[in-house]
This record gives sequence, structure tokens and C-alpha cells, in this order.
Amino acid sequence: TPMKLGAAALCLCLLAAAVWLSLSMTTSESSGGGGGGGPGGGKKCAPTPLPRADVSLCRNLEVSYPELGNISCQVVPRCNMYRRKITNWPQPKVKYPAALAGSYYVLVMVDPDAPSRADPQMRYWRHWLVANIQGADLKTGTIRGSVITDYGPPTPPPTTGLHRYQFFVFLQGTSTIPAPPKQNGDRGAWEMDDFLRNYRLPQAVTSTQFMTEYMNEAKGKFSER
Ligand SMILES: *[C@@H]1O[C@H](CO)[C@@H](O)[C@H](O)[C@H]1NC(C)=O
Repeated sequence: TPMKLGAAALCLCLLAAAVWLSLSMTTSESSGGGGGGGPGGGKKCAPTPLPRADVSLCRNLEVSYPELGNISCQVVPRCNMYRRKITNWPQPKVKYPAALAGSYYVLVMVDPDAPSRADPQMRYWRHWLVANIQGADLKTGTIRGSVITDYGPPTPPPTTGLHRYQFFVFLQGTSTIPAPPKQNGDRGAWEMDDFLRNYRLPQAVTSTQFMTEYMNEAKGKFSER
């Protein structure tokens, strides 16, 4: 009947509108922020290398998150909502290909730029601290062992610019150590050097860092310095 036909046409029309809407939303989201991938931005959505002044920690350590992949020594791009997504993703893979099976390692992840690089009164912010990681696990990027501080994702505050997220791996030796009780509170102003001295972890065997910045949740825009 004409009545049914009309209803069917209306349905189709609504469906088409919905598809068009969701398509255009995806497009504007993926190009939002102008893209992190160099000239022409918006098309290419890839991390950019760290500024030259910040590459000194870049060694043989890979840090990878879902979607983004290996972010070691790079800046998390604005495009594709990566800077927001990284605040929710679970712990990354942290892979040290030269790890020795049969040895144990300590992993430290800190933010030296808390609350901002210009005024780091809360340096170091402790994001993750794991002892007794087996070399075989570190070789494949699976971080498990005695978790002293659970992984806390990067959550740089608004208007504080880019933060560095630094990863250090220390060789513990060939035996496990008695790990201190879990410390998930009081993450700010952590005396990393005291910890390292107490546990006789003089020099990192490898390290890396990446950078990211606050992303305005409501507008999908980014803070300016
Ligand atoms: C991870 O990225 C860094 C920086 O681009 C690079 O030096 C390193 O080789 C990468 N690792 C792998 C396994 O691709």
C-alpha cells in the first residue's frame, strides 16, 4: 500500500542520514587538530620525532601502545584523538631486546614535568614501578613482576604544555629482591634517586621517553602554551 511504501522510504532516508552523519563525524574526528604528521596535516596521522634536545634518553627500549604502536622517542600526535586515548589505554608493552634471560630487572616510568616542565615542583611523578621482571619477559615486552606502583597513564593537566614520560630499566641481578609494599598513593615529588640508591640500582641499562600534552575533551582541541 502507498502508506507502507511511504514509511519504508522514510526509514531508508533516515538510515542514509544516519550513515552520512556518522561518516562525516569520523572524518572530522580523524582530521581534528590538524594532524600531527607534518605538512598537509590531517591526512597523515603519525608520531613525530622528539625535538633534538630531548633525544638523550633514547636507547634500545621500545614502548608500544595499542593503535599507536611504538612511541619510543616520539611525540604523540594530536590527530585521531591519540592524546586523549593514551590517557585511558592500559599499560604499554615495554620491550628491551637485549634483556638477558636469567636476569631480573626494575622498570621505572616517571614524568619529570609535573605539574609542568617550566615549574616541575612535583618532579618526579611516579607512573609505574615494577621490580623482579624476568629478562625473558622484558625481551618480549610483557611487564610483570613485583608491581610496587600500578601503571598510571599519562594525564598531563591543561595548559602545562608537553610532558616527557621517561622509562628507565635497571639490571637487578640474577636473583629477586624483597619488594616494598605497594605504593599507589603519593605519586608526586617522588625521590627516585633515593629509591635507586636504596636498591643499589646505579645506572640504567636502557631508557627512552615520549611526549604528550593535554587534549581538551569537550572541543577536541588542544591546549596552547
Ligand atoms: C621504535 O621507535 C624508535 C624511534 O623512532 C626507533 O628508534 C626504534 O628503532 C623503534 N623500534 C622498533 C622495534 O621499531
